[in-house]
Amino acid sequence: MPDTQTVTSVTHWTDRLFSFRCTRPASLRFRSGEFVMIGLAGENGKPLLRAYSIASPNWDDELEFYSIKVPDGPLTSRLQHIRVGDPIVLRPKPVGTLVHDALLPGERLWLLATGTGLAPFASLIRDPETYERFGTVVLMHTCREASELEYGRRLVESLKDDPLIGEMVEGRLLYYPTTTREASPRMGRITDNLTSGKVFADLGLPAMTPGTDRAMICGSLAFNLDVKAVLEGLGLNEGANSEPREFVVEKAFVGDGI
Ligand SMILES: Cc1cc2nc3c(=O)[nH]c(=O)nc-3n(C[C@H](O)[C@H](O)[C@H](O)COP(=O)(O)OP(=O)(O)OC[C@H]3O[C@@H](n4cnc5c(N)ncnc54)[C@H](O)[C@@H]3O)c2cc1C
Ligand SMILES: NC(=O)c1ccc[n+]([C@@H]2O[C@H](COP(=O)([O-])OP(=O)(O)OC[C@H]3O[C@@H](n4cnc5c(N)ncnc54)[C@H](OP(=O)(O)O)[C@@H]3O)[C@@H](O)[C@H]2O)c1
Repeated sequence: MPDTQTVTSVTHWTDRLFSFRCTRPASLRFRSGEFVMIGLAGENGKPLLRAYSIASPNWDDELEFYSIKVPDGPLTSRLQHIRVGDPIVLRPKPVGTLVHDALLPGERLWLLATGTGLAPFASLIRDPETYERFGTVVLMHTCREASELEYGRRLVESLKDDPLIGEMVEGRLLYYPTTTREASPRMGRITDNLTSGKVFADLGLPAMTPGTDRAMICGSLAFNLDVKAVLEGLGLNEGANSEPREFVVEKAFVGDGI
């Protein structure tokens, strides 16, 4: 079947989160932060496809995805069972707004995610262009429980020893994971930690200003709307590929969440 790729590894993080890697079509070029349609062959011969952010950077030979497991979800109730060697369908037409081209130049880049909204940022924090464009990159990731942060935590940890970007991230990629429903070293919603100024104080950074700070937002619709309001309150404006500004937004999924 055209557009078929092969799964090369699968890691289960919790009973509702997993990541996997697959082969990359030789012709596929994408900008870090974009998403593609992926899925599985359907029983009627028509593939069942869903939007997925590419979690790997654009220089990687393979593709990586970070996925929810929706118990009754048409795709993920099946996708969560994939194994090494299995085929998956991938439409090689990357699109999306969480890309450098949609932001004006700035000093600091804020990557703000809940849940699987981390996926596009897993790509961007591994892309050298991110560190060429910004002096400091702050990754804020918030989940209910600590186990849901583990994929991101391990990824950030692994970058220190990465031969390509290890030196670039040192002291410049600031990771700020928080939980909201389980005690952990850092807690609180991203919106609250921005409006109270706690994150700026904890990281020793000045408050966000439209002259210096840029942001990308990826979470549920409610999260996106609330963060957008906070950033607009600080004087930042939403941009797009066609009109770069101070921040961009993309939904991590459609609906209210499982
Ligand atoms: C632009 C874009 C990028 C996306 N990137 C990713 C990604 O990188 N990883 C990923 O896991 N999903 C991603 N999604 C969601 C994905 O497209 C599917 O919805 C998801 O894989 C579930 O598919 P499904 O067929 O099992 O259930 P669906 O019928 O698609 O979803 C059922 C319900 O589950 C909830 N849900 C779906 N996805 C999520 C999620 N990620 N987190 C919490 N609740 C969810 C929603 O309430 C939804 O109505 C993205 C969606 C969009 C629009
Ligand atoms: N996470 C789990 O372990 C789990 C397990 C089984 C089922 N579920 C179900 O799955 C659904 C989605 O859960 P989820 O945890 O993936 O996503 P979620 O409810 O969107 O929460 C993810 C994180 O985002 C925060 N958040 C949510 N809305 C926000 C907003 N408007 N502004 C700022 N921060 C916001 C949450 O903080 P708060 O905690 O303060 O809301 C939480 O830390 C829910 O219906 C839940 O019942 C979740």
